Amino acid sequence: MGNEFILEIRHLTKKFSKKTAVDDLNFSLVKGETVGLLGPNGAGKSTLIKCIVGLLRPTGGNILIAGNPRGSREARRITAYVPEVPQLYNMLTVWEHLRFITDAYEIEGWEEKAEQLLRLFEIWEQRDEFVKALSKGMRQKLSICCGIISGARILFFDEPMVGLDPKAIKNFKDLIQELRDEGRTLFMSTHLLDPIENICSRIIVLKKGKIIADGSLEELRSRLGEEKASLEEVFLEVTADA
Ligand SMILES: Nc1ncnc2c1ncn2[C@@H]1O[C@H](COP(=O)(O)OP(=O)(O)O)[C@@H](O)[C@H]1O
Ligand SMILES: [Mg+2]
Repeated sequence: MGNEFILEIRHLTKKFSKKTAVDDLNFSLVKGETVGLLGPNGAGKSTLIKCIVGLLRPTGGNILIAGNPRGSREARRITAYVPEVPQLYNMLTVWEHLRFITDAYEIEGWEEKAEQLLRLFEIWEQRDEFVKALSKGMRQKLSICCGIISGARILFFDEPMVGLDPKAIKNFKDLIQELRDEGRTLFMSTHLLDPIENICSRIIVLKKGKIIADGSLEELRSRLGEEKASLEEVFLEVTADA
């Protein structure tokens, strides 16, 4: 396994009793890639991400993050995970969340960036509020801010745009561009097509726990021989039950 890969997955399988949610997956990510993990509900996207970030124990296979085993201290130090449902602390304020995360990741001089993020997502006014006072959308925004402020080199977002209003989606996309420019690696799941059409350099399509397509949007299009196919058409085509 070479060093140029920031993520390497070999023969990864995750079963829940008899249900195989992730089925013998193999793929690698190069540093700086922006990857969309696309697939219908139940395809295994969340399970895959939870296995990578160390929240679920794989049934079989291997996962290395920058050469370190999943769940190891080294792997966790360079990894951030923004779950589908925000996991926040009711007894901490918005600002205290960012302080807590930057403490954990040993990030110095984070305050300016934190302010910039909170202002961008329009939760700056709420910085001294406890999270229980926040709306669902605000919690999602804070959860995204926590992932980004960590400084992690590889970030996993599970359905990050669900629950965001159109303006916040636009802001999120701009942030993704910024993270790309910084050379950070991004891996984000979605069952929606539009949001990732113009921000991902690579798209991995998952269906029933298996990769059924992997490439740039152009490659996925040409595979289907339809120059002008939108991602939506490509997606429907590759996930259709033949
Ligand atoms: N904790 C669990 N116990 C049993 N089955 C699960 C569990 N988590 C997920 N599954 C099953 O695994 C499959 C993949 O789920 P999931 O990874 O959540 O899909 P996605 O995120 O793509 O919608 C589904 O069939 C789901 O019902
Ligand atoms: Mg999911």
